[in-house]
Amino acid sequence: MSDKVEVLIAGGGIAGSCLAWWLNKRVNANITIIERAPEPRTSGQAVDIRDAAVDIIRRMGLEEVIQSKHTTEEGIAFIGPNGETKASFPSSVDSNKQALTSEYEILRGDLAHIFFDATKDIVDYVFDERVADLKQQSSGKVLVTFANHLPEKEYDLVVGADGMISQVRRILFGKGPQENDYLKRLGQYIAFFTIPKIESDTRWAKWYSAPKGRLILLRPSQYEDTRAYLTVTDGNLSRFAEIDEAMKQGPDAQMDWFENEFKDVGWQANRVLEGMRTANDLYISTIAQVKIEKFVSGSVALLGDAGYAPSPITGKARAYVLAGEISKSPSDVPAALERYQSVFRVAVDQVQSLPPGAPQIVNPQTEWGIKVLSSFLGVVSSGWIRSLASKVSSVLPDRRWNPPEYTTFST
Ligand SMILES: Cc1cc2nc3c(=O)[nH]c(=O)nc-3n(C[C@H](O)[C@H](O)[C@H](O)COP(=O)(O)OP(=O)(O)OC[C@H]3O[C@@H](n4cnc5c(N)ncnc54)[C@H](O)[C@@H]3O)c2cc1C
Ligand SMILES: *[C@@H]1O[C@H](CO)[C@@H](O)[C@H](O)[C@H]1NC(C)=O
Ligand SMILES: *[C@@H]1O[C@H](CO)[C@@H](O)[C@H](O)[C@H]1NC(C)=O
Repeated sequence: MSDKVEVLIAGGGIAGSCLAWWLNKRVNANITIIERAPEPRTSGQAVDIRDAAVDIIRRMGLEEVIQSKHTTEEGIAFIGPNGETKASFPSSVDSNKQALTSEYEILRGDLAHIFFDATKDIVDYVFDERVADLKQQSSGKVLVTFANHLPEKEYDLVVGADGMISQVRRILFGKGPQENDYLKRLGQYIAFFTIPKIESDTRWAKWYSAPKGRLILLRPSQYEDTRAYLTVTDGNLSRFAEIDEAMKQGPDAQMDWFENEFKDVGWQANRVLEGMRTANDLYISTIAQVKIEKFVSGSVALLGDAGYAPSPITGKARAYVLAGEISKSPSDVPAALERYQSVFRVAVDQVQSLPPGAPQIVNPQTEWGIKVLSSFLGVVSSGWIRSLASKVSSVLPDRRWNPPEYTTFST
């Protein structure tokens, strides 16, 4: 038996690879990442790296490479019904004072690539694999059986970094009290995809709100294409009955639903819908928060969206904390996980405290609501609307929380 901490991470996304990086740095560990997909999933649109996560990226030495992959976005413009600009907010140049568009804005795909490259030589990646079952042993280890080709094995630590619809969470904690998989839906669906660039696409993001909570957002990238987002927001969840069903059926049914929602909204809807049909990176998701009191159990922990999706995108800071706590007591994983849980419970509560109705405010249901929003945006470039819009639209809600320092290890 080796004295290495044997670690299994389920999910090779941002959270899983970031954790592997920190564990490798801080702990004498043998790390396996299993990924359900047959290869690294390196697609996805702009994500923001803010606040605590900026600090983590710096400590990983990845700041420069991430900046070099900047989406080139220079700001965001709010577009009125006739295509006119109602209000615009330039990006801030000071990373400590980020505006709506972050200095560390990068495509999720590029970020996933960077994290994969940074870990592929130090971690054993196994694709096309997922967990079949987990059994906590009295020894404190976890016996894992796999669905496809890996033989069963005992691990000291198992981490579910397998996204918002986490299978590890389901195995560990079941479907939850209301069989809702611990998801609290925020009344929003979003479709992300890439479309061909046309002349009127600039380095400015364009935000176009239409009645009934519909939003078209177009954003630039480094790759001479345009990144499109369609979102539908409604507190009335029965509006989403069809798309909920379509999520079980596949992309054609999902695209039909979005097409039906957007065909009459005007502006560039037709072009965007056509682009959706031919996009090769379509990603559709409901927006939800994971509401779970505990995200650790024995020697198993949840990380990233699996444990606490507060919005489409969550942080890198948690991976750093989890690795830090393990490094404090590598031979007592359950105790380390309890500490990880308690560091986090506070942060998650802060992060999830969006103002009531927040998605509804920036995605108004009526013409009147849009007029109010537009005139409001036109007159006040206030920090409030920036932080509200940024919180709700795309970002990493790590505000007001500083990651702890781990002095037990040195860089
Ligand atoms: C392809 C893709 C595109 C995305 N695009 C965007 C976007 O444009 N904008 C945005 O804000 N957010 C996007 N997201 C979500 C975003 O990546 C996450 O919210 C955030 O980065 C947190 O990362 P995570 O690692 O917790 O989850 P994810 O990035 O979702 O990663 C989870 C990983 O686990 C894998 N997985 C799932 N189930 C299992 C299983 N049972 N066994 C093993 N592996 C499993 C998935 O294939 C995925 O690679 C996207 C996610 C994916 C997977
Ligand atoms: C690391 O894990 C792999 C896969 O489970 C295993 O084959 C290998 O023997 C382990 N290495 C050490 C040094 O324990
Ligand atoms: C909720 O949405 C459904 C489906 O669109 C609609 O039939 C129903 O009238 C709505 N309910 C309310 C209270 O708006």
